[in-house]
Amino acid sequence: MQIEPFELERWQSVWENKVELNISESGVQPLTTAELVPDPEQLRKILDVQQLYPQTNGSEELRSRIAELYPGASAENVLVTCGGSEANYVSTWSLIEPGDEVVFMMPNYMQIAGVARAMGATVKPLWLREALDWGINVDDLPRVVTPKTKLIAICNPSNPTGAVLREDMRAAVVAAAAKVGAWIISDEVYRGAEFDDAMTATMWGSYERMLCTAGLSKAFSLPGLRTGWVIGAPNVIEKLWSYHDYTSIGPSMLTDRLASVALEPERRAWILNRTREFVRRNYPPLRAWLDAHAETFSHVAPKAGAIAWAGLRDGRNSALMAEELRVKKSVLLVPGDQVGMEGFVRFGFGGDPEHLQKARGRIDEWLGETQAARAR
Ligand SMILES: Cc1ncc(COP(=O)(O)O)c(C=O)c1O
Repeated sequence: MQIEPFELERWQSVWENKVELNISESGVQPLTTAELVPDPEQLRKILDVQQLYPQTNGSEELRSRIAELYPGASAENVLVTCGGSEANYVSTWSLIEPGDEVVFMMPNYMQIAGVARAMGATVKPLWLREALDWGINVDDLPRVVTPKTKLIAICNPSNPTGAVLREDMRAAVVAAAAKVGAWIISDEVYRGAEFDDAMTATMWGSYERMLCTAGLSKAFSLPGLRTGWVIGAPNVIEKLWSYHDYTSIGPSMLTDRLASVALEPERRAWILNRTREFVRRNYPPLRAWLDAHAETFSHVAPKAGAIAWAGLRDGRNSALMAEELRVKKSVLLVPGDQVGMEGFVRFGFGGDPEHLQKARGRIDEWLGETQAARAR
């Protein structure tokens, strides 16, 4: 099996701790363990946990708490994984055989496309459209979904656009899948990081062949816990569990406990509220800056996630821009080509406001220098 480089993950893994100003992240500032477990008695109990092998599909308590996020689901609908990425991996691996077709929303976090191609599938893009506020054109579905389509993979809310699919768009995806008996993987890892109070509707419950993936890395601000999950029908979850036996076996004992704490109803509400406070506070200055640079950037406001997706109006190359900003200004952002769409860049705004302002200042310097060089 040949696996293509996962450009975005490499870019971040290699450079995120080496630059001064990292605005490549899509989540908000991660919580510390002390913030997550402020009660000393609860913390002591966690420290007293013996480091056994945990329940490998996730403890009953953790799976029940995850299930509460999905109307109609219970613990038997849940497989706990190592991050949303393992949830996507085992889901794709369990479905794809050589010769299958996969319809993949683009731009996107490119993991499912890369895994599916490595497993011998042909991947067809389902483009998000800027003119539709980064929704899909439902008329594109019959053009890309065929009887060979095994899987339609969407990301909702979307990375990198921050858009949320409208109900009619979600229904059209389900109808297109049902027509050919395809599966749907709905990556919902940004669900809970909305700007308004309502949580994005999950795709769970809308179709029989549905797998919803998510985790604690984005909306819950706990990427270091490496906790993710898949939601599916009990027999499908049982099957995925046997795939999981071949990858990480199970979560760590400590993450299972800490993830259970994060999903206690009160704690969960506190965390999601904190996330919303971050995105609501940090986006307006970025928006004002993008508006002041309207000749350079096009932009549609995100509805969820600490990510702003901006088009490069003046024909700059995103990879070149990102590389120059990294080398000359020690700023790390995400070039559009790493999420499947050239001509755009992704700004993460979940960090410290001062840090974000400094990064914008450095980008201003760079824009000034390159505009001067272009004018010569
Ligand atoms: C859409 C999407 N899915 C999955 C992941 C991976 O999540 P995790 O860090 O929980 O493995 C990411 C990370 O950026 C993502 O953007």
